[in-house]
Amino acid sequence: MSIIIAIDGPAGTGKSTVSRAVAAKLGLEYFDTGATYRVAALHCLREGVNLKNEDDVTAMVSTMNVEMRLDPANPAVILEDEDVSRLLHTDTISLIVSDVATNLQARAVLGNMQRHLIAASRKGAGMVVEGRDITTIIAPEAEVRVLLTADDEVRVARRAGDGADPATVREAVLGRDRKDATVVEFHTAADGVVQIDTTYLTIEEVVLTVVRLAKAQLAEEASE
Ligand code: DC
Repeated sequence: MSIIIAIDGPAGTGKSTVSRAVAAKLGLEYFDTGATYRVAALHCLREGVNLKNEDDVTAMVSTMNVEMRLDPANPAVILEDEDVSRLLHTDTISLIVSDVATNLQARAVLGNMQRHLIAASRKGAGMVVEGRDITTIIAPEAEVRVLLTADDEVRVARRAGDGADPATVREAVLGRDRKDATVVEFHTAADGVVQIDTTYLTIEEVVLTVVRLAKAQLAEEASE
């Protein structure tokens, strides 16, 4: 018996923190699909590929050698034998990653990689997988599907750490969403997807809600 918990939503909804905590609590793998787009952007940047050239980006993404480590206690992204996890959340990557995310050919390649990892986790207990199109396109068959949302200003404020340039943060959250939303819908819950508005909730409250949904699902499966 395995369980896939798919969690979608825009930037600044607490998605990564919640997904990782739920995976740790339930003993599941944790897969941040955004990291597959980010590592692709980093690889293209390093190889000097023009991010606007869709064919070149797709060719680069198809041949890059990436390993995703899915332990929620120590998730990591290995690119060509180098742990690049710490390089993926810089402003540089956040501001260019939409060029990869809006490239439909590159999305297809990365989507296949994601589906393989999700299918492999079925051999074990399962996984929590977060992104933008997991509940709808990548794993619509997931046993638990959740969309996290929050008011725009709250999302920007959550990302604006000490010393961060407000205009850069705003662009990296709202500007990026606008671009990404041209290829995937992640502001409105699809049929069967539970929407949780996190604007006034703590991380712990959101984690508890998702864990409850998962436990209800597991209990239902056990009784069948
Ligand atoms: O969640 P994140 O900020 O790390 O995502 C990085 C980028 O990848 C973001 O611009 C949206 C995109 N993305 C996507 O299009 N589909 C996914 N399943 C995950 C992320």
